[in-house]
Amino acid sequence: MKITIIGRGRVGGGLAQLWGAAGHQVTGLGRDGGDASGADVVAVAVPGQLIEQALAGTTGLAGQVTIDCCNLYTQRDERFLSLSHQIKATIGGPTAKSFSTNFAALYEQIAAQRARLSNFFAAEPAARETAERLIRDAGYGPVFVGDLDPGPGS
Ligand SMILES: NC(=O)c1ccc[n+]([C@@H]2O[C@H](COP(=O)([O-])OP(=O)(O)OC[C@H]3O[C@@H](n4cnc5c(N)ncnc54)[C@H](OP(=O)(O)O)[C@@H]3O)[C@@H](O)[C@H]2O)c1
Repeated sequence: MKITIIGRGRVGGGLAQLWGAAGHQVTGLGRDGGDASGADVVAVAVPGQLIEQALAGTTGLAGQVTIDCCNLYTQRDERFLSLSHQIKATIGGPTAKSFSTNFAALYEQIAAQRARLSNFFAAEPAARETAERLIRDAGYGPVFVGDLDPGPGS
């Protein structure tokens, strides 16, 4: 798959290595921005408070399957239900939340573990298959925790 990762730090750069080794064509974008046209998948791996800025600096965002890897340690934008919803409001594609509970510093040790490490993810139905594949290709075992939307009664 062609994957554009917005953010090329510990998470973005690490995933670029893991997914590249699995045979994907990966482009990493940093604060200088860039173009995501032609990508099958866009992963977002920037500090949560920089999401708007990072998406604004990226052209070619047009409904790609999206993986939100971000966390936020300050007040979030309450207009959106979650960071993933905030990202989806710009990109518009089926969206999954993954990699946000796995320490990037340990990516190099994934393959050496006796048991397969788990990666908890939430996904809209149309993003689930792609997210699962990319979680497996990074070396983890995917654990689906549900849709991004809580649904009625939750
Ligand atoms: N580190 C972890 O173990 C870990 C684990 C799970 C989740 N997370 C979450 O994943 C996200 C990334 O964390 P990280 O540790 O990878 O951060 P990091 O190492 O500090 O890297 C941040 C990246 O964001 C890029 N960036 C900053 N402003 C940008 C902009 N305006 N446009 C595009 N890119 C921009 C930086 O670009 P430059 O390369 O140009 O500086 C850098 O590549 C955060 O939300 C974090 O909470 C981190």
